[in-house]
Amino acid sequence: MSSWAPWFGARGGILSVHVLGISGSMRGPSATRRAIEIALKGAQEAGAITDLIDVAEAGLPFCDGRLNEDTYPAPVQRFRAMVQNAQGLIIGSPEYHNGYTGALKNALDLCSSSDFEGKMVGLLGLGGGAIGAINALNQMRIVMRGMGAWVLPHQVSIAYSQDADPENDQLFRPQINDRLTKLGAEVAKFAKLMAAGIIDVRGIQEV
Ligand SMILES: Cc1cc2nc3c(=O)[nH]c(=O)nc-3n(C[C@H](O)[C@H](O)[C@H](O)COP(=O)(O)O)c2cc1C
Repeated sequence: MSSWAPWFGARGGILSVHVLGISGSMRGPSATRRAIEIALKGAQEAGAITDLIDVAEAGLPFCDGRLNEDTYPAPVQRFRAMVQNAQGLIIGSPEYHNGYTGALKNALDLCSSSDFEGKMVGLLGLGGGAIGAINALNQMRIVMRGMGAWVLPHQVSIAYSQDADPENDQLFRPQINDRLTKLGAEVAKFAKLMAAGIIDVRGIQEV
């Protein structure tokens, strides 16, 4: 089934959409991953089926710029299949030297822009400093635009992330938890509108 096919139930209602979280930290345990899990819970509560892929576990090789991405080994094909199967994505990264991680960029470079085109994307980032992950978020937004994805205005930047304990359920302040939950719910909401054909951003080209 095409990833664009609407999921209609017997009475014509939309059954569900898939929202995939992509965690861009190679660290374990990772606060970024935990933040994505909270956002995915928000997507679930909004009716989405969710999944998560962690670049630390994905076993991806480096992108070598080959023209045919289909010839990369199985972990790349698995990663791409998960992206292709999703109608919405929640992408998160720690801020590394005012940017997002090389591991995440590599994972994105292994994909074709057609894997992301027209998908609804929510972004989150974490930084150890006072300004959070604003630079990483802006860079992710630019790259997503380059891949044809539709990035929601709402995003979550988490500052002083070293104060968070990734193994603790109460990892973030309640306000941050609420923003993460809202991020997931919004991705699910707009992905559903796309799947239902109520909005259709496919094929809209740059002018
Ligand atoms: C190589 C490296 C560079 C970093 N650069 C920044 C930075 O520029 N700004 C910042 O706020 N935090 C920076 N940090 C801190 C991380 O963003 C922070 O520890 C983050 O929470 C790690 O997320 P994780 O637990 O998901 O790996 C850096 C950490 C590393 C390892």
